[in-house]
Amino acid sequence: MRPVQQARPEIWRVDPEHPDSEAIARAAEVIRRGGLVAFPTETVYGLGGDALNPEAVARIFEAKGRPAHDPIIVHVAEAKDLNSVAQEVPSVAWRLVEAFWPGPLTLVLRRADKVPLVVTAGGETVAVRCPAHPVALALIRAAGTPIAAPSANRFGHTSPTTAQHVLDDLDGRFDLLLDGGPTPVGVESTVLDLTGEVPTILRPGGLPREALEAVLGKVAVRERQPKGEEPLPSPGLLDRHYAPHAELWLFMGPPDEVLAAMRREARLAREAGKRVGLLVADEDVERVADGEGLVKSVGPAGDLEAVARRLFAALRALDAQQPDIILARDFPPAGLGLAVHDRLVRAADRIVRVASKERKDLTTN
Ligand code: TXA
Ligand code: MG
Repeated sequence: MRPVQQARPEIWRVDPEHPDSEAIARAAEVIRRGGLVAFPTETVYGLGGDALNPEAVARIFEAKGRPAHDPIIVHVAEAKDLNSVAQEVPSVAWRLVEAFWPGPLTLVLRRADKVPLVVTAGGETVAVRCPAHPVALALIRAAGTPIAAPSANRFGHTSPTTAQHVLDDLDGRFDLLLDGGPTPVGVESTVLDLTGEVPTILRPGGLPREALEAVLGKVAVRERQPKGEEPLPSPGLLDRHYAPHAELWLFMGPPDEVLAAMRREARLAREAGKRVGLLVADEDVERVADGEGLVKSVGPAGDLEAVARRLFAALRALDAQQPDIILARDFPPAGLGLAVHDRLVRAADRIVRVASKERKDLTTN
């Protein structure tokens, strides 16, 4: 295997709707000879390799610094290809495929024998999706093989929604980059496990839970945090992921109280000599900004599609200014807000629950 650190990737800028066939042919050739291609999907950029070539898949893990126990999604270009990478596909899967593919829905099913165990982290299930992006679809078709691709970031870091984000994290660690501009959805796909008794969302994402429920009836969501007013487990127990480099505190509760608490904590942090970044919605900017500090808005709080699209870029932009701490507001967990909320919780070092009744903060440590 070649060393991880290698030459800079070939970079091809492509029209996201009508990608240049020469660029696609070149990228497909890289995939076929076992190389790695970073490419846009409708959710985030992926770092792809031939899913049926164990050495190519091993290179993906190495490039990202991803632990071998974390399985990778297999991307296909046609719904019928589901049958080639999964087996015993239940009828409910076909109903979902019919309704939502291509699109930001990943299905966890039983692995077909030809999918190497390195893809599934040794497990007997495989995650499969068909991305709704002309560049991704053209690449998979031209390569003539399913493409294994995690998000194209260093393991644990914020996912990339632009080609520049990919280079910021992985330059020198892969072979070719298809730059198709910013990704339209901005959060990763919804991962739905169909191997258990009830369909269960393992990761909320770009396809809202409500859309799944319209087809399936009730859907379970794997809990990542205690419910209700209980404080969350200590930050060390949170699965920190999707995270910027700066420490991140997430403020939850009624918006007015949240903004007041953020303003207060920002002042205290500055008094302690810290550089503070604030992640807010458009309507909050005037209320938290006091002439100092770095403020980044992710859009109007009521437009959760815009918030999802801009979230990761905003976190990266704040991070680039090297704050010591980022204070972020939470968003309502409905529609795409559930994915936004999930990513913020997982990026957080500390959760600050602002209780409206007692008018005081409940923090976790
Ligand atoms: O939108 C997306 O899903 C993007 C684009 C590139 O397609 N991909 C992505 O991949 O976010 P990654 O590797 O960053 O996240 C995949 C998630 C991980 O949480 C992984 O544990 C889970 O899917 N996963 C993959 N295979 C699985 C399996 N067989 N069973 C359960 N979870 C699985
Ligand atoms: Mg990822």
